[in-house]
Amino acid sequence: MKAAMQSRYGGPEVIEVRDIAKPVPQEDEILVRVVATTVTLADSAFRKADPVIIRLFGGLFRPRMTILGDAIAGVVDAVGSKVTRFKIGDAVYGSVGPNLGGMAEYVRVKQDGAIVLAPDGVELAPLAGLASGYLTAMPFIRDEGQVRPGSKVLINGAAGSIGAVAVQLAKHFGAEVTAVVSGRNAEMVQALGADHVIDRTRRDFTTARAAYDVIFDAVGKSSFAKSRDALKADGIYLSTVMSFGILWDMLATRKGPKRAKLATTGLRPEADKLKDLEVLNDLLAAGAVRPVIDRRFALAAIVEAHRYVDSETKAGDVLVTM
Ligand SMILES: NC(=O)c1ccc[n+]([C@@H]2O[C@H](COP(=O)([O-])OP(=O)(O)OC[C@H]3O[C@@H](n4cnc5c(N)ncnc54)[C@H](OP(=O)(O)O)[C@@H]3O)[C@@H](O)[C@H]2O)c1
Repeated sequence: MKAAMQSRYGGPEVIEVRDIAKPVPQEDEILVRVVATTVTLADSAFRKADPVIIRLFGGLFRPRMTILGDAIAGVVDAVGSKVTRFKIGDAVYGSVGPNLGGMAEYVRVKQDGAIVLAPDGVELAPLAGLASGYLTAMPFIRDEGQVRPGSKVLINGAAGSIGAVAVQLAKHFGAEVTAVVSGRNAEMVQALGADHVIDRTRRDFTTARAAYDVIFDAVGKSSFAKSRDALKADGIYLSTVMSFGILWDMLATRKGPKRAKLATTGLRPEADKLKDLEVLNDLLAAGAVRPVIDRRFALAAIVEAHRYVDSETKAGDVLVTM
């Protein structure tokens, strides 16, 4: 099979498409023929080992996980002898788990991993992108931000993979949503349900005073210190991006009243992600959430896909189709 592989850390050019043996599922695994996967800034971070902390679990000198790719959509090609949840031919989507490997024509996934049947009547490939943004956005909006009817929520980076899902989830939970984007993405976030849009090239959202219950910095480009005055008295600043600054802010603000929080999808138990994907199927059925696709690349164009994601200008998801 073909797989996008890297044997060293670095720029997009370290990734090469190679032919390797098709994997064989173990007794509790399914083998998925990948229809699509997605490239995100998290993949870029693993590719570059930046932040450097990635080397601690991703390989000190060279990448331990030579095939990147977490979220996938595909069709079950083979099942292990003890698999009961899936059968050959099922359309599935979700996360392949902490060892990655989704950027390939086939990937093995534990049958009790974060993978679910795709709903009928929904195009399969975009679910790879949606699963990726959703699995990060949901715990921030529902659990860390405790967004509820009437909450005033600002989402910085609302046009990104995580931000675009966060806008839809915050609206689903009944919030009044302000989306921060550059002007070119204003219509897109309005179509996703944003009540207000701030063009970040014209206005700095941190100049607001006591305006928001939750500021979700989906791209981690601001900080708790800058956002503090824009939060209400007991407001919460959430960031997706790990840094010493946010770790310090979390410690310093743990007793409130205003708090800073970070959550990491990679550290969530697979069982929790599985439950959330089942919720996502309900949200899709209810029309509460939909995928937003920016561009599709063939596997052979994987280097260009990484270059585009590195530009930090994509709106919604980048898919890689097999
Ligand atoms: N905590 C976790 O577990 C976890 C999991 C996955 C990813 N992440 C991290 O989450 C971050 C966001 O990922 P993503 O995939 O959603 O990003 P993304 O899709 O690549 O975000 C792209 C968007 O960011 C916006 N943007 C660029 N520069 C900005 C700035 N200075 N201020 C505000 N917005 C800016 C751009 O929109 P506009 O031009 O319209 O503003 C662009 O459309 C990444 O750093 C990723 O590593 C964290």
